[in-house]
Amino acid sequence: MTDERILSARATLRANDRGGYTVPNPRIYPFQWNWDSAFVAMGFGTFDESRAFDEIDLLLKGQWDNGLVPHIVFHAPAENYFPGPSVWGTNQATPSSGITQSPVLASAARRLWDVCADRPAAEARLARIYPGLVRYHDWWANTRDPQGTGLVTTLHPWETGGDNSPAWDTPLARVPMDTVTPIVRKDDKVVDPAMRPRAQDYQRYIHLVDTFRATGWDPAKMLAVSPFRVADIGTNAILLRAERDLLALAGRFGTPAGREAIAARIPRMAAAIGRQWDAARRHFFSRDLVDDAPIRVATSGGFLPLWAGATTAAQAAGLDASLARWLRHVAFAVPSTDPEDPLYEPRRYWRGPIWSVVNWMIAEGFAANGFAATAARIRADTRALVTRNGFWEYFDPRDGAGLGGPDFSWTAAIDLLLTPD
Ligand code: DGY
Repeated sequence: MTDERILSARATLRANDRGGYTVPNPRIYPFQWNWDSAFVAMGFGTFDESRAFDEIDLLLKGQWDNGLVPHIVFHAPAENYFPGPSVWGTNQATPSSGITQSPVLASAARRLWDVCADRPAAEARLARIYPGLVRYHDWWANTRDPQGTGLVTTLHPWETGGDNSPAWDTPLARVPMDTVTPIVRKDDKVVDPAMRPRAQDYQRYIHLVDTFRATGWDPAKMLAVSPFRVADIGTNAILLRAERDLLALAGRFGTPAGREAIAARIPRMAAAIGRQWDAARRHFFSRDLVDDAPIRVATSGGFLPLWAGATTAAQAAGLDASLARWLRHVAFAVPSTDPEDPLYEPRRYWRGPIWSVVNWMIAEGFAANGFAATAARIRADTRALVTRNGFWEYFDPRDGAGLGGPDFSWTAAIDLLLTPD
C-alpha cells in the first residue's frame, strides 16, 4: 500500500507540474530550472516513468544550438520572477537564461535507465535524449575548459546553484555593483529577506548578466570578460559524475568515437579535482581562477567529490572526519557551510542551511565509499526534516525549521528517492 507520505510527495510534484515540466515552487520560481528538473525527473521516475522523461525533454527543448542547456527555461510568461526573459535577452526560440547550472542531467537520465520498469519505452526515450546530453557535455568541455585543464569555469554564482555561498564572497567582491538593468526583486517579497541573498549580491548578479548580454552571449567573450571566474568544486564533481553516467549511457546509445571522447575527459577531470584537496583542512575547496588560488571556505559542495568517484580512501576518511566535526555544532546534517566558519549563517540561503538534494548526493557518495553509517545518518536527517516540517526549500541545521519556499519540488523528489522499499 502506498503510504500518506509518498502520496504527499507525489502530489507536490503533480501540483507543480505545468504540463511536462515542473516549477520548483510557483510563488518564487515559476519556470523550469536546470538542476531542479534533473532531481524532479528522478523523483517522477519512482512512479511515472513517462512523465520523468518529459521533464528532460522539455529542459532540452531550451537547449541552444551551441549545446548550452540554460539554467532557466521560460516556457510560459510569469510576472513574479526577476530577472525574467527580457533582462536576459537571449533571443532563443524557447526563451531562456544565457548561463547554465550544475549538470546533474546525465546522472538523472542514467538513473532512469537503471531503475526503469518499462525498458523498451525508456530506451526509446533515452535514444532521443542522448544526443542532447552529449552536446551539453561537449559545450562544457569546449567553452568552459577550452585549455583542457580538467576543471570547468563557472561565470556566475547562479551557475553553481549556491548563489550567495560565502565561498563566493571574495571572487564576487571584484564584480562592480552598477547595473544597466534596474533591479526589481520579487523573491524578497515572498520569502523573508533574512533568508535570501542581500541587495549588494543582486547588484553584482545583475551586473554579470548585463556584461554577458553585451557580448551577445558569445561563450568565448563571456569567458574572457567575466570578472567572476571560479572552478566550483560542487559543479566540477557533479560534472565528473555526469560524465561517468554519460559514458555508461554511451555504451548503449553512443558510437565508439563518442565513447572515446567522453572516456578521455574523465581521468583529466578526476586528477584536477584531486588537486583541490587540502590535507590539513581535510576538505576539497573551490578555486578562484582570477587569482588562481584555492578558496578556503569549506562548503557542502566540498563533499561532492565522493559522489563523483574522485576521492582516495584517505580523502574519503578525511571527509568523514570533517563531517563528524561539523555535526558536533548542529542537530541535522549537512549544513551548506562549515558551522565553525565565521561566515556561516544557518538561515540565509546558501550560507548555512541544509538542502535535500545536496544531502542526497553526499549520502550516495559516502555509501559508495564504504561509509554506510554516515550515509544512513544523512539520509535519516533528510527524511526527519521533512517529517517535522514538510517539503521546504531548505532547512535550519540547528532546529530543522523549514526555510525559503514550502511545497518545493526537489525536496519532494528527494523524499521519494529516500523512501525505504
Ligand atoms: C534565484 O533566482 O534565486 C535562483 O537561484 C537563480 O537561479
